[in-house]
Amino acid sequence: MKYYIRQCRRSGQTDCRETEFFMRIEKHPILSFDRSSKITFTYNGEEIEAYEGDTIAAALHAAGVRVLGHSQELHRPRGFYCAIGNCSSCMMVVDGVPNVKTCVTEVKQGMKVETQVGKGVIK
Ligand code: FES
Repeated sequence: MKYYIRQCRRSGQTDCRETEFFMRIEKHPILSFDRSSKITFTYNGEEIEAYEGDTIAAALHAAGVRVLGHSQELHRPRGFYCAIGNCSSCMMVVDGVPNVKTCVTEVKQGMKVETQVGKGVIK
């Protein structure tokens, strides 16, 4: 499966997949977003497009990825929670380093992001 940057508005856009909802804020009353530079990174081996300045979790969310990991004991799905680096809900393995809080880590060209299993292992 390949992930793309796009927003489904359920308005009949030809590139809108029926079963997936892509979220990316296009207009904001206060903030502005620089969308001039696209980059690519991999998520569990799949190539994903993002914009320079996105956090990893925001880029994944925009690409339709909602589950960023699973709880250690009960293996319940975990995703965005605080989005400010205060919890551990979004921790993933980034370029071989476990426990990276992806909600506050900027995505970079060629970055390798993987779902973390358990407490993570340094590779
Ligand atoms: S969502 Fe809480 S630290 Fe990232």
